[in-house]
Amino acid sequence: MSSSVPAWLHELFPAREEIAGEELRLGTEPLPIHPEEAAQVAGAIAKRRVEFAAGRACARRALTRLGIDSFVLENGPDRAPRWPSGVVGSISHAGEVPGGLCAVVVGRAHDVLALGLDIEVAAAVAPDLWSRVATPRELAWLEAQAPSERRRLATVLFSAKECFYKARFPLCGEFLEFGEVEVALDPAGSTFEAGLTPARAGVAALPRCKGRYVGVDGFVITGIAVSPGDEIRGAFGVVETEGLAQPGANFDRENRAW
Ligand SMILES: CC(C)(COP(=O)(O)OP(=O)(O)OC[C@H]1O[C@@H](n2cnc3c(N)ncnc32)[C@H](O)[C@@H]1OP(=O)(O)O)[C@@H](O)C(=O)NCCC(=O)NCCS
Repeated sequence: MSSSVPAWLHELFPAREEIAGEELRLGTEPLPIHPEEAAQVAGAIAKRRVEFAAGRACARRALTRLGIDSFVLENGPDRAPRWPSGVVGSISHAGEVPGGLCAVVVGRAHDVLALGLDIEVAAAVAPDLWSRVATPRELAWLEAQAPSERRRLATVLFSAKECFYKARFPLCGEFLEFGEVEVALDPAGSTFEAGLTPARAGVAALPRCKGRYVGVDGFVITGIAVSPGDEIRGAFGVVETEGLAQPGANFDRENRAW
């Protein structure tokens, strides 16, 4: 089974032709990938091997669109993918094996400073999880939404936080709790703003950014793409991404140091 350019790519990243993407539906068996990649999940359960291989298959096709062939994409000890130098990207998979959805987006670091993608099964986040995922302000916002919409919107909120985490992590290597990120959703425009809560504000890397979401065939997909030079409104006013850490610079993720 081969991957294909997702129909939702330009809805999620409008006017961002420099972002390449691939998607595929999860099958029953792992797709063929590089032996070094397969070795990373050799001892994992079948579902994990299928979704990992799907991510690698999508990544390989997406990287080819950037002119990079046969790159071996391994995950570091922090589980984040080690993209080729000068490339940013994000991988996500969700749902059952078979039938789930996997997608990858990639871009050149001189075009895209930070890139995040997250897929969730639509309305997967049940009410008993909301208090663990949402801040008091987000919970109050959810309560104010139409009851029939709440579970779907809670799932978008969850996905937006995961997306923000994945976009931000390569810039600084920082773990974040759900309560350290706050998301403001705009269901009318299918957009959101994600940012660090005051407890975390002051940390330079990506304090706040905008994203979009799309509903696709029983899934919700969130996306964040921040350009070098984009203005990011943070808790301490407007900061320019120009001076922020560049992916592929010398951040040592294992030792959490520059
Ligand atoms: C990274 C994480 C967000 C992945 O989310 P998920 O919904 O469970 O799974 P997804 O399929 O969407 O994403 C998994 C992919 O994310 C990528 N990933 C893993 N850790 C990552 C990190 N630290 N930074 C960027 N990408 C990462 C990997 O490519 C992984 O797929 P692979 O292992 O097959 O290569 C999650 O596993 C995690 O580590 N969470 C801890 C932090 C957190 O969630 N905090 C609360 C939100 S702020």
